Amino acid sequence: MRKIISMVVMFVVSAMSMMSCAGNDSNAATDSKTRKEKSMETALPGKKILVAFFSHTGENYGVGNISEGNTHIIAKMISEATGGTLFEIVPEKEYPHDSYDAVVEIAKQEKAKKARPAIKGDVKVEDYDVIFIGYPNWWGDMPMPVYTFLEKHDWNGKTVVPFCTHEGSGLSNTEKHIAETCKGATVVNGLAVRGATSQNNREQARKTVSSWLNKL
Ligand SMILES: Cc1cc2nc3c(=O)[nH]c(=O)nc-3n(C[C@H](O)[C@H](O)[C@H](O)COP(=O)(O)O)c2cc1C
Repeated sequence: MRKIISMVVMFVVSAMSMMSCAGNDSNAATDSKTRKEKSMETALPGKKILVAFFSHTGENYGVGNISEGNTHIIAKMISEATGGTLFEIVPEKEYPHDSYDAVVEIAKQEKAKKARPAIKGDVKVEDYDVIFIGYPNWWGDMPMPVYTFLEKHDWNGKTVVPFCTHEGSGLSNTEKHIAETCKGATVVNGLAVRGATSQNNREQARKTVSSWLNKL
């Protein structure tokens, strides 16, 4: 009988302790910003981090005429949280800024032709360990200048972290395309954020970015 009572007591005590641990975890999730920031800084210790992105300004889907692209906003958040260096992939020939429909048409043709539009400048990817690659979802793919950038470099041994903004398609198959293009790299699970959220609800976007970074 004593044995049974002691087993019941042990069960109750361990169940209570599990409940209290769960409570601590949920407290941790809502804990101060400082703690979250600290965990992000230590998530990629000693690694050289690059945040390379493509983003388009001007008239865009669901957000009107924007002066800072949706993906650019997310790229800055990642750079601030990780200390990574920002690099913007800029095509030599700009896409139109005054007509969303015109950009959609050009992007459609470029994708069909597998175009590789020339880009301005470059960054020595080879000097970094972890490279975040950001882009808007264009026709279920990356904008072609992102391929131009990826194909210029040696990705062997690098960790590549995709992120995109979109209006419903998420990352589509872009993680797979990146893995095929960046030969020898480890491509980790990417992040997809609604363009309108990054543009108009930055608090929400920052939370999404933080919790994703903490899981890396
Ligand atoms: C040419 C073009 C094609 C697009 N194609 C898609 C698409 O296939 N799926 C989707 O969810 N959003 C699509 N969008 C919406 C963009 O992905 C979304 O607005 C994104 O946040 C834009 O990011 P940016 O401001 O950094 O350029 C497209 C936008 C453009 C301009």
